[in-house]
Amino acid sequence: MNILVTGGAGFIGSALAKRLVAEGHQVIIVDNFNAYYDIQLKRNRVAELVPNVPVYFLDINNKDALSALFKMYQFDVVCHLAAQAGVRYSVEVPEVYVTTNVLGTQTIFEVMQKHGVKRMVFASTSSAYGTTTPAPFREDESADRPVSVYAATKRSAELLAYNYFAQYGIETTCLRFFTVYGPWSRPDMAMLKFAEKITKGEEIEIYNEGNLRRDFTYIDDIVAGFVKAVEKPLQYEIVNLGNGRPVELMRFVELLEKELGKTAKKVFLPMQQGDVYETYADTTKAQALLGWQAKTTFETGIKNFASWYRSYYK
Ligand SMILES: NC(=O)c1ccc[n+]([C@@H]2O[C@H](COP(=O)([O-])OP(=O)(O)OC[C@H]3O[C@@H](n4cnc5c(N)ncnc54)[C@H](O)[C@@H]3O)[C@@H](O)[C@H]2O)c1
Repeated sequence: MNILVTGGAGFIGSALAKRLVAEGHQVIIVDNFNAYYDIQLKRNRVAELVPNVPVYFLDINNKDALSALFKMYQFDVVCHLAAQAGVRYSVEVPEVYVTTNVLGTQTIFEVMQKHGVKRMVFASTSSAYGTTTPAPFREDESADRPVSVYAATKRSAELLAYNYFAQYGIETTCLRFFTVYGPWSRPDMAMLKFAEKITKGEEIEIYNEGNLRRDFTYIDDIVAGFVKAVEKPLQYEIVNLGNGRPVELMRFVELLEKELGKTAKKVFLPMQQGDVYETYADTTKAQALLGWQAKTTFETGIKNFASWYRSYYK
């Protein structure tokens, strides 16, 4: 298949592109390489993919450039991962979330509609469940009480996707990812941030006194689930991709300390605005519709992450 990966220089998009190429697909990447975090990390991720994958530096809000690209390649599927990610940053700069995650997504749907491209797999988030959904989180919960602008924009994009399905027959599977981690992770996320600080002997900030649980999901498992969604049209569906076994934050810190061979200097802080106490995926639907279940234990995943971290930042 001819597959467009938006946000292909990102943590998950680059891993997905690599896997799709290995499966024999023709992959084209679009990314604006913005400076939200280290651009060199984004460049190094795609350097692994070039020359097999054409990489276009463009913003998903650039409708004309996108249109030209859609004319050049007849895409079968759009894997839409370009987004302004990060819950905490959305408290500081909310407008960029609306511009990229809502308007940008709508621009892509418009271009798809114009060029007759009928399928999207969309990277959504467990943040959509907010703090009022009972755990484990099921896809049939309303998820209409977002506690961050990030969550609100991602949920809005899911709703836009429904509209483009109902109105134009564009089929979208929205995959709600749960705290993805592993090699090539994002520097604004706890795992890489903590690893850097622990290594340098700097303090790590632990929110809500460490009383947080996250359903950490390993990158290879996420990519495997994404590929299954690419290969299986489902009309319009929302599907959780989560490990289904939440981990206490302090257990995560303990394992990271063990793998890095160094004890962290911990500063305990109150709950952060926009954050949630727990994420916990019910994966029944992913198993039923995609035949997918996460396979990687947290211990193995952390080991792989630490080994990548040591070799990349040596
Ligand atoms: N990492 C996680 O734990 C997680 C959890 C839930 C959902 N997600 C979602 O998965 C997707 C990928 O996340 P990630 O962790 O790889 O993030 P990332 O920031 O590494 O990747 C996103 C990429 O999109 C690009 N981008 C941003 N705005 C753009 C624009 N306007 N035009 C073109 N490109 C643009 C960025 O340069 C970046 O390379 C995102 O949609 C994110 O919301 C991630």
